[in-house]
Amino acid sequence: MRKKVIAGNWKMNKLPNEAMEFISELAPLVKSAENEVVLCVPYTDLFYSLLHTQDTNIKIGAQNMHYEEKGAYTGEVSGEMLKSIGVEYVIIGHSERRAYYGETDETVNKKLKKAHVLGLKPIVCVGESLEQREANQAKEIVTTQIKLALEGLTNEEVEKTIIAYEPIWAIGTGKTATKEDANETIKWIREKIAQIYGKEVAESVIIQYGGSVKSGNAKDLFEMSDIDGGLVGGASLDAKEFAKIVNYK
Ligand code: PGA
Repeated sequence: MRKKVIAGNWKMNKLPNEAMEFISELAPLVKSAENEVVLCVPYTDLFYSLLHTQDTNIKIGAQNMHYEEKGAYTGEVSGEMLKSIGVEYVIIGHSERRAYYGETDETVNKKLKKAHVLGLKPIVCVGESLEQREANQAKEIVTTQIKLALEGLTNEEVEKTIIAYEPIWAIGTGKTATKEDANETIKWIREKIAQIYGKEVAESVIIQYGGSVKSGNAKDLFEMSDIDGGLVGGASLDAKEFAKIVNYK
């Protein structure tokens, strides 16, 4: 049985004091959750959030990392740096990073490999744009992204990789993929993984859905056969709303 992972992606939101207020409000609301609860917060909130979640079941993640350990990369943060303060999760290859900051399938692959070396739990994002979807290329695009992201990983590393299927047209738009559509694409991803890494690996990989997940649609989505939770943007900024998503049942 795969565990559901519900991860909030705060993007560039919340100052440290706001992060701590949020955690104080969220912690009691999700303390009995059966699902894994993760908050991926801005770098400047990481340390405070880690301290503030110490006695809770809330896990903390970053939203990006560099694949090199150190060096002349102004403005970047390495996986080692995240690991050193106790960060557990890291989002890799979010579509906003691919669109605005030159993230490519190649850098996603390098970051993913590095995350595994360090024992960070990566959440790798894939998904098609509206044009690609309308041109009937969604499955092809997602297959390529998956293959390139996972290239060179061991079976064990693939098993430990969380994949977030996030159709770009559904992110921040209020448009959600139908539960059937999302499930079908996620099933397709699982089949592709089975073809390369075997059925056993494919059956244990956690694959989330992301894109306008909210309390009103979480149950429908998360109860589908292949959807193992979600990566939640906008709706993760409000503690009560995010708690409802975590406790969707
Ligand atoms: P959204 O964002 O829930 O606001 O659509 C999801 C994401 O970008 O991870």
